[in-house]
Amino acid sequence: MNTEPPKHRVVRSFVRREGRITQGQRRALQAQLPQREWPTGTPRPADVTGRWAPLSLEIGAGDGENMAGVALARPTEDFIACEVHGPGVGHLLLRAQTLGLTNLWVAQRDVNELLAGLPSAALSSVYLFFPDPWPKKRQQKRRLFQAELLQALARTLARHGCVFVATDCADYARWMLAQIAAAPGWYNLAGAGLCAPRLQRRAVTKFERKAVREGWPIFDFVIAPR
Ligand SMILES: C[S@@+](CC[C@H](N)C(=O)[O-])C[C@H]1O[C@@H](n2cnc3c(N)ncnc32)[C@H](O)[C@@H]1O
Repeated sequence: MNTEPPKHRVVRSFVRREGRITQGQRRALQAQLPQREWPTGTPRPADVTGRWAPLSLEIGAGDGENMAGVALARPTEDFIACEVHGPGVGHLLLRAQTLGLTNLWVAQRDVNELLAGLPSAALSSVYLFFPDPWPKKRQQKRRLFQAELLQALARTLARHGCVFVATDCADYARWMLAQIAAAPGWYNLAGAGLCAPRLQRRAVTKFERKAVREGWPIFDFVIAPR
């Protein structure tokens, strides 16, 4: 008889799938990831970046379309692009190399693990754009935007730090508003229950292009811990 206690099954916001990977992306993962990888553990950001500068994080950065553009436009700041999907990370690394970015790091791991390893108040901004909507009722527990993430962000955001969010899924937008209202210590900068204007510096990624093509509204939020 098995007397081991049942193992706790972690519910992830992503499914591990390699998908199609190009040779260039594979090479970038092998050659460039080690140089750009944000280390695990709790390093002080300045020990990694070599300077005291604002540090921002994009959660689920996809192929880096947004993060690379923002890093290029803001050379005096540092950025971490967190993404689990190998081909996406490969693409992101190729973009960073082409643009010659020296202020962009990559964390190819679950953002919950990344945040757990960051010191308190390390981040000045966090971006979460078009997170997977997990639309079916039984899948909603996989949604990234929930109490656990907000708790980790409240700890890792610096004073006056904000989280910028966008989604094209109306049901997820309603869910986000409910999560914000229920999260102790968080407030919605636009006002309870309201959307923020589109963040100008957000790059238009394929997810936004598709939403525009289909005529779906896009919901932006800016939230901060009190
Ligand atoms: C719908 S895509 C959006 C990508 C990008 N933000 C954009 O707008 O183009 C969501 C991304 O989040 C990533 N993701 C999901 N859960 C994650 C997690 N726990 N940690 C890091 N990345 C995650 C997925 O691999 C996927 O690439």
